[in-house]
Amino acid sequence: MLNEINQAKKVLLGNRKKGYTLPTNNKLYPAQWNWDSGFIALGYSHFNLKFALEEINTLLRGQWNDGMVPHILFHDLNTNYYPNHSVWNCGNKIRSSGITQPPILAIMLRKILEKIIIKNKDKFKIKSIIKKITKYHQWLLKYRDPKNSGLVSILHPWESGYDNSPLWDKPLNAIKIEKNLKYKRGDNKIINPDFRPLDIDYDRYVTIKNHLRKNKYDPKKLYQNSMFNVVDVGFNSIFLKANKDLLSLLKKFNLEYKDIQNYIVKSETQIEKLYDKRKKSFVNYDIKNKKKITAPSITNYFILFADLKNKLINKEIIKTLRKHNSKDKFFFSSIKPNNIKYEEKRYWRGPVWINCNWIIYQGLKDKDKKFANLVRRKTIDLVKKSGFYEYFDTNNGNPYGAKNFSWTASLFLDLILEKKYN
Ligand code: DGY
Repeated sequence: MLNEINQAKKVLLGNRKKGYTLPTNNKLYPAQWNWDSGFIALGYSHFNLKFALEEINTLLRGQWNDGMVPHILFHDLNTNYYPNHSVWNCGNKIRSSGITQPPILAIMLRKILEKIIIKNKDKFKIKSIIKKITKYHQWLLKYRDPKNSGLVSILHPWESGYDNSPLWDKPLNAIKIEKNLKYKRGDNKIINPDFRPLDIDYDRYVTIKNHLRKNKYDPKKLYQNSMFNVVDVGFNSIFLKANKDLLSLLKKFNLEYKDIQNYIVKSETQIEKLYDKRKKSFVNYDIKNKKKITAPSITNYFILFADLKNKLINKEIIKTLRKHNSKDKFFFSSIKPNNIKYEEKRYWRGPVWINCNWIIYQGLKDKDKKFANLVRRKTIDLVKKSGFYEYFDTNNGNPYGAKNFSWTASLFLDLILEKKYN
């Protein structure tokens, strides 16, 4: 185990740049990604607290004036990544993308702070991080839920983090691809195209991105007229959990918490409206096309992470989750394997992702200890067998995508070492 722990640390340190960490050390993702950095910070917290807080601080240095924390920060302007900084053409102190990603910072910060005794001299610095995260959450409240419904929207599939999930097939099919679209993908030159999203998906991603840029990333306008507007259970579950953790931090540091507290109450009841009692599973809602989205994505089970008070729903969801593919040798597949959309090798359309397993494990811990331990064990074993890769084949555990993948290393560390703190 010690050997693997050291290897995981080496992956993180190997990918580390000045104050932030790349998702992988090859050319695939040569920038800082929002939710990757959150997971990475947690990994560092097991052996280098300074790096953990620095990772979060650097990400927050890229925060926009209105509060948005971008999904990518382009610290290095000379890369072949597409879409790069000039194509996005935005950013505050650091060039960035014009969209966000699952807001996991509050969750990670709380976990990190639980491990340490905060010295008086550090209180001010930590308070300032909490204030920035609060501003980020306020941005989501104001611009992604302007009607104060209790649920926030994503305006681009990239905002979910699970870019080409079958969840987005229907809303993306409804999009008219821009005429004479010209761009050059870099990703499928580096990784086998069979493991990456299709060109048609990229045409749509780029069409939506161009539309956002044409609207100058004006969040008010875009909620109304974006080509894509979806209430995703996964994203909202993470946000609900993040709001709960933020609330606890705000209280601890004597900061104003009423808005966040009220929003939690609202979200908790509203998210239950996405529960299909008959199928005993959660569905997503396409606001743009006024349609439910029912694809059996593992991210629908992030609801367990949100820690709903409703015990019956939690119980039923766990029962449904057991039928996803936990009888298989390798799980969880990103899409239920018997689904017509399932593709064993293609990015978010079938493979196992370590961050999904980690999120679900966290959600199961206090609801079904035995199942939680099985998830933990299987996830650790998969990484031990196949290495610190980006994603894995559900059938045989084969690794795909980037190697030396930071969040795989980080979450592996957390799964192995968390016991120490429990
Ligand atoms: C990519 O480039 O594949 C990223 O997932 C986009 O954020």
